[in-house]
Amino acid sequence: MPNKQNQFLIPLHKTFWGREEEKAAIAAMRSGTGVGDLAFSEALAKEISKKLDVSYVLPTGSGTAALELACALLLKRGHEVILPSFTFSSCANAILLAGAMPVFADIDINTYNLDPVEIEKKITKKTKAIMVVHYAGMACAMDKIMQIANENNLYVIEDAAHALGASYGGKSLGTIGNVGCFSFHGTKNAASGEGGAFATNDKQIFKIAEIIREKGTNRSSFMRGERKKYSWVKVGRSLILSDILSAIALEQIKKLDKITLLRRKNSEYFLKKLKKISSKIILPRISEGTDPNWHIFAIRAPRLLRDKIIKALRNYGIEASFHYLPLHQSQMGKKLGCKTKDLPVSEEVASTLIRLPMHPKLTKSEIDYIVAALEKIL
Ligand SMILES: Cc1ncc(COP(=O)(O)O)c(C=O)c1O
Repeated sequence: MPNKQNQFLIPLHKTFWGREEEKAAIAAMRSGTGVGDLAFSEALAKEISKKLDVSYVLPTGSGTAALELACALLLKRGHEVILPSFTFSSCANAILLAGAMPVFADIDINTYNLDPVEIEKKITKKTKAIMVVHYAGMACAMDKIMQIANENNLYVIEDAAHALGASYGGKSLGTIGNVGCFSFHGTKNAASGEGGAFATNDKQIFKIAEIIREKGTNRSSFMRGERKKYSWVKVGRSLILSDILSAIALEQIKKLDKITLLRRKNSEYFLKKLKKISSKIILPRISEGTDPNWHIFAIRAPRLLRDKIIKALRNYGIEASFHYLPLHQSQMGKKLGCKTKDLPVSEEVASTLIRLPMHPKLTKSEIDYIVAALEKIL
């Protein structure tokens, strides 16, 4: 079998899987067919709901699936959704697949998250929702954004793909807006290879989400014994997470506090060590009100040097990386009529950002090695 092993001495990500995840996956395989919504998926939904203090949780096949579910539920043709351009394609895809239009707004230079002032500039009669992305697990300015949403009667969809375990003003990210979307992709803080979850405190939203997620049928309520038969009731999709992956995700959620703590320790050590060269780079800043989960550790360097620094770090065996070519500058963004140079802060951040390895297994000596390499390069 071809094995695409990571060749780097210090990879960008490492999963925090152990015997618990292995045992859980085997138990799920032995106990059933591996289809979704069996015992492990139910336990996963309950565990997330308890941990994040959110009423309803539906495990999904991916973070992308959760975003598609949110958009299918809340949007119609002709609606507009304001979102950052400095994000993953899944955000804009979900909006387009629901028949609505993504409208990109610029981000804040310090937090790399949607700037409330820029959101307000983009509101039109067609705007139906704001899709916030808590980049790197740092919270968006949620008080201001919720205020804008309430004043303009807009939904707030939280893309919390990076933000599991992070909070804002004591509330878990992904539980503040109308719906929250999480990812358990192999690179995320809680990982099941592929996977995700949709969360809401709104019973009506949950009831419809359950149907869309289950191919447009009321099978979920049939499975709970609430009806004798199930049938097709609306246009739906297949967005359910396999019970085998749910079993792995469940073990990861149980370890989430430990994972967050190890990432925090590593980030604090990084910040301490990087102080020496802080005149040459921009260090990550904790956005106001955030208790971060340190999903990503990103620094910024001068535009002209950024790619050279990434290349040099890679030559040292360190898997440094850029992040997000802004969506408005992408091939698809141009097809939507977006103009480059439209969102100067997004463009500045995207062309200066460097992601450094960050995961719970990173050691102090690996961090020392990364910082020493950066010092030499700079
Ligand atoms: C901001 C953001 N949203 C959504 C996703 C999609 O998550 P998934 O890979 O689980 O589909 C990603 C992927 O990394 C992401 O970075």
